[in-house]
Amino acid sequence: MPRRGGVEALRRASADCRGCPLFKDATQTVFGDGSPTARLFLVGEQPGDQEDREGQPFVGPAGQLLRRALGEAGLGDEEVYVTNAVKHFKFATAPRGKRRIHKAPSLREMTACRPWLVAELRLVSPQLVIVLGGTAGRALLGSSFRVGEQRGVLQPMPSWDRGAGGDGRSAGRSGEGSGLLLATTHPSAVLRADDREAAFRGLVADLSVAASALD
Ligand code: URA
Repeated sequence: MPRRGGVEALRRASADCRGCPLFKDATQTVFGDGSPTARLFLVGEQPGDQEDREGQPFVGPAGQLLRRALGEAGLGDEEVYVTNAVKHFKFATAPRGKRRIHKAPSLREMTACRPWLVAELRLVSPQLVIVLGGTAGRALLGSSFRVGEQRGVLQPMPSWDRGAGGDGRSAGRSGEGSGLLLATTHPSAVLRADDREAAFRGLVADLSVAASALD
């Protein structure tokens, strides 16, 4: 993990990450993207098929929906930094054809990738972190995180010192207690929902709470 050179140095180093086996099948590392001085920091699960090919987070259908929801919540003009809990695409290939089907990352993979995420958080040092879905929540808040229980509620920014499998409690580290964090549903869950419109409205409502917290 480079100690100097900011987010760009991290991005370059992450391209050669061999911290877990996911690098073998993925096209490339998909590191975070956006302003390194953004007030708003969004964390998803892992790159999808399109992100894996293009090398950038949230450029596929989930990203388009996310941008629409941010716009409706009044955050369309806000500078953001977007990244994922896991930086390689994990997938299974469909038995017939070449379709790559998303697979959820394991705790081991999340734990291996967590130092990159924590390094991004410490460098960007945002005012507000938005956690998108269960994987991002478990990576940052511990294994007991449940998005349905915590969504839409502003909470103090925790310390990032414990591991992904922790219990979500920690003593705190200076400089990490000043911001806020809010969890919401993952945009892919909105795309999969039976009632997409209601799920989208729920996402916008949560993001509007986040918008109200930015001065
Ligand atoms: N889903 C994610 O969690 N991240 C992406 O970058 C794309 C889809």
